[in-house]
Amino acid sequence: MANNKIGNRSEEPALKGTAVAPSNIALSKYWGKRNDELTLPLNDSISMTLSEVKTVTTVEFSNKYQEDVVAIGDSSSPITQVEGSKKKRVVKQLNRLRKAGETNFPAKVVSKNNFPMGTGIASSASAFSALTAACIQALNLKASPQEQSILTRLAGSGSATRSVFGGFVLWHAADNSDESYAEQLYSPDYWDLSDVILVVSEEEKKHSSLFGHSLIKTSPFFKARLEFVRKTNEQLLAALENKDFKALGEALEREMFVFHSTAMTSQPSLLYWSPKTIEVLKQVRQLRQGGLEVYATLDAGPNVHLITPTGQAEKLVSYVKNLKLVNKIYHCRIGEGVRYTNQHLF
Ligand code: PMV
Repeated sequence: MANNKIGNRSEEPALKGTAVAPSNIALSKYWGKRNDELTLPLNDSISMTLSEVKTVTTVEFSNKYQEDVVAIGDSSSPITQVEGSKKKRVVKQLNRLRKAGETNFPAKVVSKNNFPMGTGIASSASAFSALTAACIQALNLKASPQEQSILTRLAGSGSATRSVFGGFVLWHAADNSDESYAEQLYSPDYWDLSDVILVVSEEEKKHSSLFGHSLIKTSPFFKARLEFVRKTNEQLLAALENKDFKALGEALEREMFVFHSTAMTSQPSLLYWSPKTIEVLKQVRQLRQGGLEVYATLDAGPNVHLITPTGQAEKLVSYVKNLKLVNKIYHCRIGEGVRYTNQHLF
């Protein structure tokens, strides 16, 4: 068992690693932490891993670098070196992994998303999952999937812990840090659902989810939400087991409204929606009346995720294209979890 422990290197470390991690969409949201330092959530959350929105990250630990260098790019901005709080979050995770890998070498990190960052497509989920995985590979650390999930969680973006796995994923809030990991409930081919992501704005949000988590207790709906999300998770689990799309859709859409009501009624109030978001939400109701099976959810941003059976996704895409509300559409199926590649970014 000792060999399986995080931090035990199996052989001479290859000091460069590259990982590709998917984003995921929460069907029930993680919102609020009971422990900031350990990123322990207030509630269990359930997600779907997405096939088309990803982060690729290469990490190299070497004494040829004087200090840690972090460079990030996305679909609308070239890879550029970052400083300040963005760099600090990455360096904190590098330090944790350096300790586990018993190295003091500075690192170079280059990371690229194929979608816009900070707009509610969970870029921190794919980014911190890819960063952690690339470090595990570079340092040749032995970590079981559960241990990788815990290490990823500690990076501070809780949703990243779910991106380690493909398919439908549950992150346990649990009673202690060693038990708060994500696990796959069903593999990607269990149920052919799609997430049609409508990008109505590519502007980076003003308030990070990090800030949002810290405000939850200021909402008068705080306790009610925790009770509600507990029941929602039961409904989601039953809907998944029975492949009951109507039950799944109704539960996830209602949960989205409860989550955003909590954010809107926090102090200060967080309003992530734009006028286009509301227009899309109204259209979703009309589409349902017209017989299409589609439900909406949103993370902490204005962009709308439309969950639909894949058989109906093409019809949905052509309808929303005609609306002229949308800058970009990503049609995602249910995707695989983290994978490794030798195609390094540098
Ligand atoms: O993982 P964070 O700290 O970026 O927070 C994610 C918060 C939501 O996206 C709104 C919900 C979730 O569970 O993904």
